Amino acid sequence: MTEGRWVGNDIWLHDPTKTTIFGIPIQQKWTDLVIFEKIFNQEKLSCVIEAGTYQAGLSLYLWMHCFQREIEFYTFDMRRPNDEYLQSRLATNLWLEAHFFQENVFDPAGTMFLTLKNHQKHPMLVLCDGGDKVSEFRTFPHYLLSGDIIGVHDWNWEIRTTNVEKTVEKLNLSPYLEAECVRIESMWRFWRLL
Ligand SMILES: C[S@@+](CC[C@H](N)C(=O)[O-])C[C@H]1O[C@@H](n2cnc3c(N)ncnc32)[C@H](O)[C@@H]1O
Repeated sequence: MTEGRWVGNDIWLHDPTKTTIFGIPIQQKWTDLVIFEKIFNQEKLSCVIEAGTYQAGLSLYLWMHCFQREIEFYTFDMRRPNDEYLQSRLATNLWLEAHFFQENVFDPAGTMFLTLKNHQKHPMLVLCDGGDKVSEFRTFPHYLLSGDIIGVHDWNWEIRTTNVEKTVEKLNLSPYLEAECVRIESMWRFWRLL
């Protein structure tokens, strides 16, 4: 992926800062969404946790997957999404707001940590898409159980191999869907705790 591809008439298609889903801002490329279709289809997930809700575009997409498959869903952000999005017709009818927690994801007494530590249902998919992906990836994998999956967004932009290799080695995390992410130029990377 090169920045050059994001200019010109197709900017709406490739630039994750310009993308919407159902009219709701989502900071993802379309190929980032396809990778979740694959994960939900091939894993029997019990819980999905998203760090970094922003305007809840990805949250709504993930929650629709979870709702369909009876998977628990939590999304966290220090800031509340605009009401026009969190209380949009679709989000309201799916009761998305009940799954949103306004808090600092690094608050040790927050719902994010309580959920990571105490959640009984596995496998979990934990998504690092908040404001500090490097710290998120250094923190959250310590709470995974065998079979859980962790993902980071903005790969090679906000976080890269040098930022993850120690944690990956120490915790015995195995790359998951790496070739697929590379092939479709997804900005996500995933690992599974063995
Ligand atoms: C990249 S955006 C999330 C994009 C969203 N997942 C999507 O795909 O549309 C990052 C979000 O992380 C939030 N954030 C930054 N630091 C945070 C923290 N320590 N705790 C909770 N949220 C945080 C910001 O407010 C921002 O909304």
